[in-house]
Amino acid sequence: MIKKAMAVIIGTAMLSTFTVFAEPAKSAKQAKDVTEFRQAILTLVKSNVGALGAMNKGAIPFNVATMQTNSLRIEQLSLMLEDYFATDTSGFDVETAALDKIWENQGDFKDKISALTAAASNLNKVAKAGDTAQFKPAIGQVFKSCKGCHDNYKED
Ligand code: HEC
Repeated sequence: MIKKAMAVIIGTAMLSTFTVFAEPAKSAKQAKDVTEFRQAILTLVKSNVGALGAMNKGAIPFNVATMQTNSLRIEQLSLMLEDYFATDTSGFDVETAALDKIWENQGDFKDKISALTAAASNLNKVAKAGDTAQFKPAIGQVFKSCKGCHDNYKED
């Protein structure tokens, strides 16, 4: 009984290790769908950074509640990116700005995702703590993480 449970645990652990590698899309339809899904996530990310950018520029006053809400959303959305970029669509003619090297550099791409997750999480902490001196640099880190990935993995 214990042996069987162990086998299941080890099997599951191995499975999750294997799924970190990009899988090629199996059909044009799947490639189109996953492309739209990942773009939808990034569109929502954009929607949530909008207010932060405006605060950073001084176009609107700093609002701690918005900072908390939006940074939490960005963090959660960032956690979906790995899964939604796991399917390699480079073999299909999809309308995308994603560069093929995403699927050749999965480790580095994941680091770029982690940078966004960490920056959003930090902004949330700063906002929660009401650390006004840190608002701007914390928002700046979020934008830096977008650029850090786009410069490498997104077409201009
Ligand atoms: C880990 C890499 C990565 C990070 C981090 C990242 N992006 Fe992107 N982003 C991409 C890639 C790749 C695409 C192109 C996706 C496609 O067209 O399939 C993209 C596309 C977009 C799009 C266009 C979506 C569409 O509808 O085509 C927007 C808007 C966007 N990103 C905003 C942001 C913002 C804002 C941030 C930071 C808060 C951010 N991204 C962080 C990789 C990233």
